[in-house]
Amino acid sequence: MAHIELNAVDLHWDIVARFTATPMPLGFYDDWAKSAGEEAKHFNLVCDTLEAMGSHYGALPAHAGMWRAAEDTAEDLIGRLAVVPMVLEARGLDVTPDMIALFEAAGATQAVEALRVIYAEEVGHVAYGSKWFHFLCGRHELDPKDTFHALVRRYFHGPLKPPFNEEKRAEAGLPPDFYWPLADSR
Ligand SMILES: [Fe+2]
Ligand SMILES: [Fe+2]
Repeated sequence: MAHIELNAVDLHWDIVARFTATPMPLGFYDDWAKSAGEEAKHFNLVCDTLEAMGSHYGALPAHAGMWRAAEDTAEDLIGRLAVVPMVLEARGLDVTPDMIALFEAAGATQAVEALRVIYAEEVGHVAYGSKWFHFLCGRHELDPKDTFHALVRRYFHGPLKPPFNEEKRAEAGLPPDFYWPLADSR
């Protein structure tokens, strides 16, 4: 998880710097700069929790899923928005409540507090993704739902995994007809 948060810091700065050939409103840069700051806080929260438990970031192997998605969408801003905030960060909203329950049951207060901060702030990152995805679809007169399905099928390998956190996804501007047709149960 620490590694995911660290990748997220880099990814939010990457979207600020990589696509400057595409003119975007200033709010686009503000949103991702704010997100990058929050990810840095998340990374520190997870590292502090690991250290309080006698471990540290780097002690365990991690996966490169976030970074692979960044490489796959390095040439495609709309694809980046579809896959990183609207698929990967939205997935975080699905799995975090169960993680919180697990750590609560284990009496790991510091981990629970860290996860609650992360859970609350990640809704905003998914919402920024949806906002700027819709903005770019509007600019190019693309149908948002069809475009989302095409880009996720192109850049994200495999189906999306239910159960989905429909409530938090809705709060972040992700309607069910965006993600259900990409799920493995259909
Ligand atoms: Fe985060
Ligand atoms: Fe995030």
